[in-house]
Amino acid sequence: MRKKIVAGNWKMNTLPSEGAELAKNVVANRQEVCSCVNFIVCPPFTHLSMVAEQLKGSDVALGAQDCATETKGAYTGEISAQMIAELGCKYVILGHSERRQYYGETSETLNKKMAQAYANNLTPIYCVGENLEEREAEKHFDVVKAQLEEVIFNLTEEQFANLVIAYEPVWAIGTGKTATADQAQEIHAYIRKVLAEKFGAAAQECPILYGGSCKPANAAEIFAKEDVDGGLIGGAALKAEDFLAIGKGFAK
Ligand code: 13P
Repeated sequence: MRKKIVAGNWKMNTLPSEGAELAKNVVANRQEVCSCVNFIVCPPFTHLSMVAEQLKGSDVALGAQDCATETKGAYTGEISAQMIAELGCKYVILGHSERRQYYGETSETLNKKMAQAYANNLTPIYCVGENLEEREAEKHFDVVKAQLEEVIFNLTEEQFANLVIAYEPVWAIGTGKTATADQAQEIHAYIRKVLAEKFGAAAQECPILYGGSCKPANAAEIFAKEDVDGGLIGGAALKAEDFLAIGKGFAK
C-alpha cells in the first residue's frame, strides 16, 4: 500500500503570523480526516520555526520549498538543507516548475540539491511536468521522462525508497484548469513505468502526487485513479478548511 499524501505548497504567500495561524487551523481540524492521510505543509523559509511550533504534537509534517546546492559558506541569500532540517523539516520540494522557469533550475543544480536533501535525512518531493506548448505538441511523455532520467536515475536504491514524485502540468498550475482524472492517470502510470525500468518493483512503492488546480471539488475523482497517490496543492492549501477537505478525497 502506497502512502496517501496531501502536501500544501504555500509558495510566497502569507505573512509569518498568518502562516502560523493557518498551521494552527490545520492541526485543530486535522482529526476530521482519516489518519491514513499524510498531511505536509511547506511554508516559506521565514515561517518554518513558527509553523513548526504549531505542528508540535500533531502528525502534520513540515517541508520546505527549496534548499541550496551547497552545504554551507559564502552563498549570500541561500538556505541549506541542514538549516531546514534543524527547524524540523522532513520534506523538501525540489524542481518545482516555478523554480525551473523563473530561477533557472536545471537538472545539474537539482542533482546537487537532491544530494543535500538526502545528506540531511530530508525526503525530496521532486516535481516534474510539461508546459502547454509541450502538451500541445504531445511531447509531455518525453519531457517528464527526461526530468526523471536526468535526476532520479542518479539516485541509489536506498535514496529512491525515500522519495515522493509530484506531477504538475504547468498549464494547470494556478490556472483553474485541471488535468482530467484520465490525463493524470495516463501520465502517472507512465511515470511509474519509467521509474520501474530503473528501480524495478520499488517503483510500486513510490508515491506520485498530482498538482495543478487541485481543490476539494475535484480531488476525489483524481485521487480515485490507480496511480495517483495524493496531491501537491497550491492555492487551496492556503485555507485550512479546503486543504483538509482535499484529504477527504481519498476513498480507496
Ligand atoms: P495550484 O494548486 O495553485 O494550481 O498550484 C499547484 C502547485 O504548483 C503546487 O506546487
